[in-house]
Amino acid sequence: MSSKNTKPKKEKVDEEITPYLDQELRPSTWHDYIGQKAIKNNLNILLKAASGRGTPPEHVLFYGPPGLGKTTLAHLVARETGKNLKITSGPAIERVGDLASILTNLASGDILFIDEIHRLNKTIEEVLYPAMESGVLDIIIGKGPSARTIQLELPPFTLLAATTRVAMISSPLRSRFSGGVFRLEFYSEDEIEEILRRSAKILKVNLEAGAEKEIAKRSRFTPRTANYFLKRARDFAQVENRALDRKAVTEALKLLGVDEKGLTPSDRKLLEVIADKFNGGPVGLGTLAAALSEEEATIEEFNEPYLLQLGLIERTTRGRALTPHAYTHLGKTPPKNMQKKLL
Ligand code: ADE
Repeated sequence: MSSKNTKPKKEKVDEEITPYLDQELRPSTWHDYIGQKAIKNNLNILLKAASGRGTPPEHVLFYGPPGLGKTTLAHLVARETGKNLKITSGPAIERVGDLASILTNLASGDILFIDEIHRLNKTIEEVLYPAMESGVLDIIIGKGPSARTIQLELPPFTLLAATTRVAMISSPLRSRFSGGVFRLEFYSEDEIEEILRRSAKILKVNLEAGAEKEIAKRSRFTPRTANYFLKRARDFAQVENRALDRKAVTEALKLLGVDEKGLTPSDRKLLEVIADKFNGGPVGLGTLAAALSEEEATIEEFNEPYLLQLGLIERTTRGRALTPHAYTHLGKTPPKNMQKKLL
């Protein structure tokens, strides 16, 4: 390239919008938080009652598929109580000392959020029990016969934790969430549309009538996915210099390999493998993961919840099986024993 005429073009930058779009889209007040009504109502009572008594709220566990707003809820609880939020995660707490340091550095009333709590190892989990139950930290000093335990009193705190794998939470840990164990539900299409209209306003994009419907239909009933698609469709319309209407959304998402039900190439591959290699199933998770060269956890966390929600697969005691709807969606003929069910 010649050095002439290479003066950089001045980019038009919107000073108010940072590159941290996901953070910008996260609702910062209960009023802005759309959906999950049952959890909102229960949390409100828990928080109001605790505040009325002048004590920190009891510990709460949120669970459910990724992208439904578990971390957002933790931010809102902290905001509502006017306390500091300290954020960490199961894999970040590698040693008992890491947890001891986090707990002893809390101030009275702080909210501690542990994301992916199912990835906490057993020894660390056991240190958490007395901390959650009686506000004390038991530390073992020394080894062998001379080992002794000292007990440190912790400032009162509230533990909020989140997991996408509630079955991996041991029952002693689960039972210590005395404030409640709440399951986040998939959002309705109407709620997703409302979230998209709010996000479009924040991003200053002009979503033409009906465009939010096209995104919502494919959003897997998940705000994170809906917002991701909105951003990609916005990029597409901008680069193609056209309006962000239904057609632009459809084209942009097709380019990403997302079909009209919101299935990604990896979801379709999973369905096709069960259909073609395992005659529709049932097939065990380990066998399926091996056939797809995928991690079992990825299938369980990312693919299955939505495929189950849509009724495209079912979980039986012998493994995963396709439903007749899955064959219809793939445009394949179901095996003979299933054809009757389709009639
Ligand atoms: N953005 C992501 N999740 C949201 C929610 N539940 N309500 C409003 N905006 C959101």
